[in-house]
Amino acid sequence: MEDRKSWDIKDEAILDDLLTLIGLTAEEKKALSNLQEAARAIAPTLSEAFYHRLLAHPNTAEYISGQIDERKKTLEQWFIQLFQGNYDQAYVKQRLKIGETHVRIGLPIRYPLAMIDVILDFGAQLIVQSQQPELAVKAFRKLLAVDIAIFNQAYEDTQFKHMAETFGNESLARRVLTQ
Ligand code: HEM
Repeated sequence: MEDRKSWDIKDEAILDDLLTLIGLTAEEKKALSNLQEAARAIAPTLSEAFYHRLLAHPNTAEYISGQIDERKKTLEQWFIQLFQGNYDQAYVKQRLKIGETHVRIGLPIRYPLAMIDVILDFGAQLIVQSQQPELAVKAFRKLLAVDIAIFNQAYEDTQFKHMAETFGNESLARRVLTQ
């Protein structure tokens, strides 16, 4: 198998790659930014529901005990920023860093992915407040998909970094996984 073009896309370049794939339009960005104030208003209820669920499960609770207030604050910021309307290199850099933080604490990726359920629930509560709900729902789904992809990218990057050390380079490491 030849090397794939996607294998060379790194760091902030993944934003253009994903936006090209997903095609977030100017109207969709506007529909999201029109909801930012509503997102700010709903964010504390979202973080309450989010951490209530994580605390109810011992396997997730052990990561967050003793830091709930701080965690709620950063999650609320994360949610509000989903609706900022401009998604540039600084945005993706910061979102990658958030993913890396979770890699660093040894958190299995299944937990952040499963918690998207709560984000979807609150996203739906915002969509019904939009003047253009059909546009807003499309936009929200697209941007959340991009964010989940970036979060995952941080996990994959770390794995390939270590595998590249073992196998000599990333291309060889990727080939090992295709066998
Ligand atoms: C949709 C999923 C999630 C989102 C959007 C999210 C968001 C964030 C953000 C924005 C930060 C601050 C990162 C930084 O300052 O670099 C953070 C930190 C953290 N998150 Fe999450 N999180 C998610 C899932 C989880 C889950 C499932 C857990 C644990 C079960 C968790 C535990 C933590 C911990 C312990 C920190 C602090 C890490 C440290 O700085 O040592 N997160 N999260």
